[in-house]
Amino acid sequence: MSKIPSIQPRKTSFDVSNVKPLWNGGDAVMTRFFDALSVNFPDGERFFIQSVRNYQDDISDPKLRQDIRDFIRQEAQHGIVHDKFNEIMEKQGVSVDKIVKNTQTYLGFFQKYMPKKHQLALTAALEHFTATLGEGILENEAVFKDADPIMRALFMWHAIEEVEHKAVAFDVYEEATGGGYVTRVVALLSATVMVHVLLSPVFWHMLKIDGSNRQPLKIARGLNRFYGRKGFLTRMLPTYLAWFKPGFHPWDTGIPKEVDLWLKEYNKQQDPLAASEAVLGRLNQDTLEQSHAA
Ligand SMILES: [Fe+2]
Ligand SMILES: [Fe+2]
Repeated sequence: MSKIPSIQPRKTSFDVSNVKPLWNGGDAVMTRFFDALSVNFPDGERFFIQSVRNYQDDISDPKLRQDIRDFIRQEAQHGIVHDKFNEIMEKQGVSVDKIVKNTQTYLGFFQKYMPKKHQLALTAALEHFTATLGEGILENEAVFKDADPIMRALFMWHAIEEVEHKAVAFDVYEEATGGGYVTRVVALLSATVMVHVLLSPVFWHMLKIDGSNRQPLKIARGLNRFYGRKGFLTRMLPTYLAWFKPGFHPWDTGIPKEVDLWLKEYNKQQDPLAASEAVLGRLNQDTLEQSHAA
């Protein structure tokens, strides 16, 4: 396992102005899964920031206090970058405004009526979700193999930072609220249902834009790449389920070795594009070696 990385906020930007609608290899399902996430990220991330901020003053450990500041800076930058891409999607016919308003209604309701401890547990659970997803992206060459290089770089940069700060909300939850097994288990179960309830209609709306919704075979094949026996999400199941172990901590599931590779390349010239190419090159190399060995 790679060593635990420090949390590095990066003022990264991406020129997404020329990104085509089906940017992930022309595949509607592979593209729209990530688009549906992108639309919801900025408001989701603002919710995460606020949930952690509610307890910021209760933390005395200087390391965790610094981690909180860096976590906030990273999430704020993710929001800025995804908002820019969401503007492009709006121009391409996605009802971004409508989707965002719906998400804001949900999250506003939680902030108004849900105890702050539960908001934080939900945040820690969703952070487990995003980190697990990020690790899946970094470890699985098939996900962005044929993607627009800018979008690949954008999602890989986001993935790296999700891994870097994956323990922050969890640690604040443990430190400031005393934690609690049942609350965090319920939080991940609710988060899983919530993500599907929120994202499924968005995903379907996006498929309708180019008529992919009328191609059931194409949808079935795409969904199989996510939920099938060797699907992208299915492969993440052990990491996702680790949350349910009593005494779990986010670092227990380790860090993909691709994180080191990305950081090494990124640190040379602060170029997320070059860093993502380095990871993709390594992943392709592994696939090649595996097929030679078979
Ligand atoms: Fe994020
Ligand atoms: Fe995050």
